[in-house]
Order: sequence, then structure tokens, then C-alpha cells
Amino acid sequence: MDEKARILQLRDELHRHNHLYYVENQPEISDKEFDDLMRELMELEARHPEMFDANSPSQRVGSDLNNDFEQVEHRYPMLSLANTYNRADVQAFYERVSNGLGGEPFDICCELKYDGLSISLTYEEGQLVRAVTRGDGVKGDDVTANVKTIRSIPLRLTGHYLPSFEIRGEILMPWSSFESLNAERARCEQPLFANPRNAASGTLKSKNSAVVAQRRLDAYFYYLLGDKLPGNSHLDNMSEARNWGFKVSDAMRRVHNVDELFEFIDYWDRERSQLPVATDGIVLKVDSLSQQQRLGYTAKTPRWAIAYKFQAERACTRLNNVIYQVGRTGAVTPVAEMEPVLLAGTMVKRASLHNQDIMEQLDLHIGDQVYVEKAGEIIPQIVGVNLDERPMLLGDRVSFIKRCPECGTPLVRYPGEAASYCPNDVDCPPQLKGRIEHFISRDAMNIDSLGPETVDEYFEKGLIHDAADLYRLRVEDLSGAWGTKIKSARKIVESIDRSRQVPFECSLYALGIRFVGKVVAKLLARHFSTLDALMQAGTEELMSVDGVGEIIAGSIRTYFSDPRNLDLVARLREAGVCFEMTSSSEPTSDLLVGQSIVISGVFEKHSRDEYKHIIEQHGGKNSSSISSKTSFILAGSNMGPAKLEKARSLGVRIVSEDEFLAMLS
Ligand code: IVH
Repeated sequence: MDEKARILQLRDELHRHNHLYYVENQPEISDKEFDDLMRELMELEARHPEMFDANSPSQRVGSDLNNDFEQVEHRYPMLSLANTYNRADVQAFYERVSNGLGGEPFDICCELKYDGLSISLTYEEGQLVRAVTRGDGVKGDDVTANVKTIRSIPLRLTGHYLPSFEIRGEILMPWSSFESLNAERARCEQPLFANPRNAASGTLKSKNSAVVAQRRLDAYFYYLLGDKLPGNSHLDNMSEARNWGFKVSDAMRRVHNVDELFEFIDYWDRERSQLPVATDGIVLKVDSLSQQQRLGYTAKTPRWAIAYKFQAERACTRLNNVIYQVGRTGAVTPVAEMEPVLLAGTMVKRASLHNQDIMEQLDLHIGDQVYVEKAGEIIPQIVGVNLDERPMLLGDRVSFIKRCPECGTPLVRYPGEAASYCPNDVDCPPQLKGRIEHFISRDAMNIDSLGPETVDEYFEKGLIHDAADLYRLRVEDLSGAWGTKIKSARKIVESIDRSRQVPFECSLYALGIRFVGKVVAKLLARHFSTLDALMQAGTEELMSVDGVGEIIAGSIRTYFSDPRNLDLVARLREAGVCFEMTSSSEPTSDLLVGQSIVISGVFEKHSRDEYKHIIEQHGGKNSSSISSKTSFILAGSNMGPAKLEKARSLGVRIVSEDEFLAMLS
């Protein structure tokens, strides 16, 4: 086959596998096989620039080119929905519709209200031509380049699609991506996203589509528009769109009366916690398009649809104090201390106030009754003050501190950043201790016999000042004068000793360079192979690494231009810490050849992606759905009840994280 024909064949295959993986959840090939096909396609495309196709699967990786968004007018304005919060309003909507239709029978299509950001896609002749955000409803931003990186959005349609149409849906960041993104940001002491919606929105507005590609967004579709649609039923039209390749939720039901409608609402109010993405309510739509047309629109919203919003979990409690925590990079976070209150099943007594701007907007006073919410968010948030309950004897207005609470140094704010920093990284104790704690953490040097308390103690007693001092510790030092039991002392020294062998990506991450989280450390380690090469790299070379932009490159350069950091690195090297890729960094075997493995739940020792990688390194195949062909399920905590039941009914073995790692050791 000639290369051009092979390009076309690879594009077809990759489009199909993309759909199987991201829309159907039924992959047929392993991630590695997919990557191999993609690599082949990209190599061939590079050799044949005349074969460029803006919708080739290779375009999904995004690019580092800075794209400013062009404003585009919507062909059909993007309206919003009227919100209701109680059953009486739902009942009233039902009656309004019935009256509006002169008492004729009608069906309602019930569906989930996805909590992300809306997007409108235009397709011509089966090809995605444009993706535009809602904007002000009349005009939005053209975010086509970014949207193309979302794997569940078809770039090319299949089946009997309409020649020209628009489809609207919601772009979402799944909980799993949101959690790992925030965990990564926490490690780099970057401000956290409050919820998946903000994270998705921040991501979609990114000027660098390669960043969007890494963030693993998803999209569900719920509204088809065009001059001529397949049929007169909204639900049937959406099922058609599913056949063309769109991700349309199965959680849609056509109901014939109010009772069935409330059944749907009650069911999903309970079950939505099991969904992979955030939802904040139910949308009710008159199913017949001709009836929709007769009901028409008010100025802002359709009369044929309404949103019923789930109750956010909210509580009201007293604000007792605001404290300030100083992290390893000197970032200062305000934290509210409150009278303990029950919220979404847990007692809450602290809430992050994120940063100076967010905190000051709330106009908090000590003693205020504050509203705390936990809706989609993981971290409880103070959303406002109950002014009706403001006490007569009000405490002081809370204003952000000007000096570091730990060392008294005046705080600084860098341009464009929301966080405030203590710039005294030389002797501000929490920064020094924080750096050692980061160094020993599991994803870094994995010195698991030492915890933050022990580090704190050794630091306070002057036994260690920085990470390199750890390698000078001897059993006698710890067990003698310092009172650690001999057995523990031995364990500590042993695990420090073992840490000399951790892979380069971990020792690099352990240095705690600002913005160099786990993912970036891995990319850098693979690209440069040795610390020396990384230290010598100029900004341009650093930025040639996928995922490294100007800010990260600048931070790396700054780190290695500081003589104190060079001294630390030199002492770590002297102590035998490994700062280069070794062949053992990539263990491979055929222990899992022929095995099809499903990963489910939350893990402690490695991330899901790392487990996928480990499975492939040992010759196994990752699969996302359980079937009789599944060899076993690698299960972390919180495995969904539906999956558990399915595994039981098929007699598929469930293997814990520890058992799995033992299998490979
Ligand atoms: S239909 C004319 N269906 O909610 C009505 N919207 O407040 C078009 N949304 O902007 C929207 N899930 O971003 C519809 N199943 C769903 C939805 C949904 C989420 C969002 C959408 C819209 C907002 C309306």
C-alpha cells in the first residue's frame, strides 16, 4: 500500500478507535497500540504535507501556537433555561405547557443537566467546522482548535448524518481528571480550581491547545438545530445524533405524566453521585418539535423547557477565625475556622478562602454567620454571609495579612497571580520544612518511614536543615541523643538509603522546582535523560518539550541559577541520589501477556494512568468495561456498586492494589 493510502486508512482506524474508547467505553485495542498507530500516522503526515486534513485524528494533540479567540455570531442564539428549585414549580410548568397546547396530549423528555460550559458545534458534510462558546448568547469565542483535542467529540461523522447542522452540548471535566489536576496543582502550590466547571472553563479558554489536550475534557450533547432535522421528536433526533458519533447520554427518558417525571428526578437526585461528571439538575423538554414551536419563547428562555436544580448542600455556621497557612513555595492561603457544622454527611470546621481577592469579596467579619456549601466541590466553600443574622457586637472585618505569619517578612504578589507569597525562602521555617516534606513524599523520594511530624521534630532540633542532610543521618544519631527507638531508626535509615535508587523523574520532582509537578517532571526526565542536560538547557530547548511553556521554563532556569539550589543538588549527588534515566526506570516483562484488565476505583500508590502504563509495560491490555473476557479487575477504593455487581455476576476476580503490585514484584 502506498503511503498516502496508508494515511487515509490510519485516519479511519484512529477515528473509529477514538469513538470506541471515548464515546462507547468499549476499546478494542490497547493504549499502546493506539499510540503506535498515531505515531505512524503523524510520521506519514509529516512526510506528506500535501495530505493535510484539519480533522485528522493527529490534530487532537493540540499545538503550542498561541491562539487568540475570534468572536463569532451564533446562527441561532444560545438561550438559557428558566430554573426551578421545587416540585410545585415543576408542576406549574407542566400545567403551563398543557394550557399552552390547549389541553392536547404531550410527552416530556427528561434528561440530566450537565454542569459544565455550553458549546455549539457546526458540522458541514460530516466534518466539524467550528466550535463556539456561549459567550453572551449572541456572540461567542471560536474555540475550534481547543475543542478538537477533546477525544469524545467526533471530528468526522459516521452513518446517515445531516449535510449541515448545529449541535449543542456541554463540555465537562470528569471528576477523575479534576481531582488529579487539583492534586497536581496543590503539589505545585498553584491555586486550586473550585469545581470541575471552573476547571473546564479555564481549560477551554487556554491559549495553548496542547494544554487542553492533556486535561482530558469530555462532552455530552443535548440539542440539535438545523433547517431540516431527522424527525419531530427531540429524543429520537438525539438518538440519531448518537449514531453519527456524538456522546448522547443514555439517561434520557420520554415520560407521559407528572408522576413519571418526578420518578426520574428522584432517581437521578440519588444516583447522580455515581456519574463520572458533575450534574446540577434535570432538564425537562417538550419532546415534540412542532409543539415546541407552538409554545415558543419568552425574551430569554424557551417556554417548552425548564431546568429543575438539585439542592446544593448548604449550611450556616459561625466564623470563628481566619488563619493563614504558608506552604512550601511560600504561598499563603487563608483558611476559615468555623463552628463545626454537618454538611453532606461530614462535620466541617474549616473552609479554604483561596486567596486575598476571593476572601475580601466576601466582606467577612469575625462572628458572622456564614453559608458553607458543598455542591460539586470537594473543598467546602464559604459562599456568603447571612446579613440578617449579623450580630450586633460584630468582630473585626477580616482583611488579608501584610506580613508572613511565620517569619514576619512582608508578603508579595506577582503580576497576574492571585496568590500572595512570603519571599523569604532562605529561612522561613514552613518553607524549609515543607521542602523536605515534599522531598520525602511518596511520588518523590518515597521515604515512607519518615512523616511530616518526624521531619518537623528533626528540623526543630537542628538535626536536618535541608533534604541533603537526610543522607547524613546514622542509626546511632537517631537512636542515641534523639530518642528514636532503634528499630524505627534502622527503618528510617534503610528507607533513606533505598531512596537513592528512585527513578530520575521522581528525584527531579523531589527538588520541588516551582511548577514542575509529577507530570512535567516525567516529561523533562524523558526528554533530557540526565539532570546535567536539563541544567544546561536554555529556555528555548526547555520550551520544545511538549507541555512546557514559558512560565515553567522560566521557573526551571531561575531554580538552577540560584547557587543555593546548585549546592543542594551537588550535595544530593554526592550522597548518591540518582539524577539520570537508568534502564531500570522502565521495567518491562511479559507477566501480564494475554490478560485483559479493567481498572476501577481510587488508588493510593500510583495514579490510574500510571497503572495503565504499568499494565502495558508488562504486556497486559487495558479495557474499560467488564465482560466475561476480563481477566481481573484492579480495584482501588470506592469501586462503583454497578461494576462490583457485574464483576460478581460474571465471576471476575477482583485484585487489590497491593496484590497487583505483589504479582509484578
Ligand atoms: S438545553 C434552549 N439540555 O444549561 C435550551 N441545556 O441554563 C438549550 N445544560 O446553557 C439548552 N444540560 O449549558 C439543555 N440537558 C441539557 C443541559 C443543558 C446542561 C446547560 C446549558 C445551557 C444551560 C441552561
